[in-house]
Amino acid sequence: MAQSASATFDPSTYWTAPARNFRTSARLHMQHSLCQKTIGYLLDPTLPRGSPLRVADLGCGNGAWLCDLHDEFAKAGVSAQLDGYDINPVNFPAPAFLPSTVHLKQLDLLKPCEELTGLYDIVHVRAFGSTLAKTGVAPLLSVVLALLKPGGYLQWEESKVDRFLIESPPSAGIPSVACNTISRMLKAGSDGQGHDNSFIDKLDQVVTEYGFEDVHFKVFEKRKQDYKGWTEDFLMVWEELADMFPLKAQAPDSPVTRESFTELFQKAVAETEQGVAIHLGTINTVVGRKAM
Ligand SMILES: C[S@@+](CC[C@H](N)C(=O)[O-])C[C@H]1O[C@@H](n2cnc3c(N)ncnc32)[C@H](O)[C@@H]1O
Repeated sequence: MAQSASATFDPSTYWTAPARNFRTSARLHMQHSLCQKTIGYLLDPTLPRGSPLRVADLGCGNGAWLCDLHDEFAKAGVSAQLDGYDINPVNFPAPAFLPSTVHLKQLDLLKPCEELTGLYDIVHVRAFGSTLAKTGVAPLLSVVLALLKPGGYLQWEESKVDRFLIESPPSAGIPSVACNTISRMLKAGSDGQGHDNSFIDKLDQVVTEYGFEDVHFKVFEKRKQDYKGWTEDFLMVWEELADMFPLKAQAPDSPVTRESFTELFQKAVAETEQGVAIHLGTINTVVGRKAM
């Protein structure tokens, strides 16, 4: 099962596929709101807020984090230029509808981008881990170091995307077989492809090894009152996975077909309707300063 799941998942093409459409953006809007409820701030309170500030958000998706940061800075009287970069611009709002300080640009961050060298006081990265599962952190951290001014700060937030936790309400006896099966399939598929997300549990070590200073690592537990939202968020991801399996007519011997996965997914949805929650446990964050 897991072998079939992994056979067609490629992090380097996943984010540019036509299926990353308005539904993906809607899911990212919800995820942004859930992240903010979990962490409680956009920018780590220890980061400088002196004007003018130049901030980059790498893998910015629909720009929701930057738009909220614009509001926060506007209220605090901080003047800033807020630049978002993403390989897929399909979910960028129209420039005319963005706040005046926010600019979004299509860019493959895993390719050289010399024109941005040394421009930024703060570089923010969130939920980029699935893209790094194959390459490791080196390509991303090289870009972050290049973009930052000397003494500039990285703020990075990740959850372990291969570690779905399935939680039934205590002593309610609600089955979670289908949810657990999909969770195990995804973990086995990720392991089978040699994806390594272990860096997410040691973001502080990783950025320290890259020469960052004043490194602070924090782990935020997801709140139980947000489990429903996280569950819906991940069900949307799981639903999209059906397309990665072959149709039964095309591959009758496949251990998992699109039809069998869809059936399993529907059972998983039924379990969540009984109260089973799907979440990733924690959001891990690190802040570090580039050497002067
Ligand atoms: C899980 S989404 C997170 C979006 C946003 N950071 C957030 O938290 O709402 C990952 C984003 O990284 C982008 N991405 C993936 N690979 C990229 C690359 N090589 N260069 C730039 N962006 C990339 C995807 O298009 C997607 O918008």
